[in-house]
Amino acid sequence: MERLKGKKVVITGGAGFIGSHLVERLLGLGAEVTIIDNFMFGNKIEHLRGSKGFSVIEGDIRDVKAVSRAVNGRDIVLHLAACVGVEETQKMPLEVLDVEIQGTVNVLSSAVKSAVRRFVFGSSSEVYGNSLKPMQEDNPLSPRSTYAVAKLVGEEYCRAFYQKHGLEYTCLRYFNVYGPRQDERFVIPRFVGQALSREPLTIYGDGSQTRDFTYIDDVVNMTLLTVTRPEARCQTINLGTGTMTTINSIASLVTNALDGTNPAKAIHIDYDDKRPRCIEVFSRVADIARARQLLQYEPEVSLPAGIGKYINWRLGR
Ligand SMILES: NC(=O)c1ccc[n+]([C@@H]2O[C@H](COP(=O)([O-])OP(=O)(O)OC[C@H]3O[C@@H](n4cnc5c(N)ncnc54)[C@H](O)[C@@H]3O)[C@@H](O)[C@H]2O)c1
Repeated sequence: MERLKGKKVVITGGAGFIGSHLVERLLGLGAEVTIIDNFMFGNKIEHLRGSKGFSVIEGDIRDVKAVSRAVNGRDIVLHLAACVGVEETQKMPLEVLDVEIQGTVNVLSSAVKSAVRRFVFGSSSEVYGNSLKPMQEDNPLSPRSTYAVAKLVGEEYCRAFYQKHGLEYTCLRYFNVYGPRQDERFVIPRFVGQALSREPLTIYGDGSQTRDFTYIDDVVNMTLLTVTRPEARCQTINLGTGTMTTINSIASLVTNALDGTNPAKAIHIDYDDKRPRCIEVFSRVADIARARQLLQYEPEVSLPAGIGKYINWRLGR
């Protein structure tokens, strides 16, 4: 990680949940960090404004000029800007595709012009669709939502730019990430918020759906490993923990961590327009053998510990 000292890094979508944590860590390591973000999902970097080596470009990645201002002269691009969230993005399919296609092409083109040394693309486990078995990077892909299709398109552009221009990329397929500053649209922040306000926890369906949850600190470590390790060049790599957890177990972990102070526990609601069954992925867990082998990556924060950290952050402890 010391290799990142003095490096010039641009993070698209840097005002978002994962981006803001990367900004913090990179500044701490002595990197110079620029972000470009249109703040459509809020602004999670306000506390960092004015930090040494940090600059902010308010702009849309579909705007070529803004992107080239952000990327010009940088060594590393972390491309995370996207319309995020499977439910929300079903309501804006053309914008989701536009950001992922036009936006990603703009960022890749600027990276080629600026002779960027490494390009990391924030992809998603959504590209796999459903699988009862741990998902391996070479599995057949079966995206079920516009968001998932958009991510697959982004990955393909990275591969095409490598073939045509030699731009070295890593596609990181993030599984479910959680931690401080994540929006309450997502399950762990929502459950904790509901439990703290003594409301019932809302579970879609019967809660037996499984996910693979990674704490943000592990995600930041792994993302930066892909930048520093030559073995990550031109690879697609899962970023998860390899542990499958049901949504019902998350509800129990949250209520237990809060000493069962939420008497209403959980309510199950049927799938509706907000979360249509046809796009729901029912079973998902990462096979992380490739990350282990290439990057010696090992997730460090267990789910109970991560939920505890998140609750402490919510309570300001
Ligand atoms: N958080 C997760 O669990 C998860 C899982 C899989 C993949 N990912 C991917 O990781 C990346 C970061 O996710 P996140 O959780 O930090 O999401 P986020 O919504 O918090 O961050 C995304 C950022 O992109 C910005 N943005 C959106 N459209 C833009 C545009 N046209 N121009 C400029 N900025 C734009 C938003 O304002 C936001 O700040 C995304 O690409 C997401 O698809 C996240």
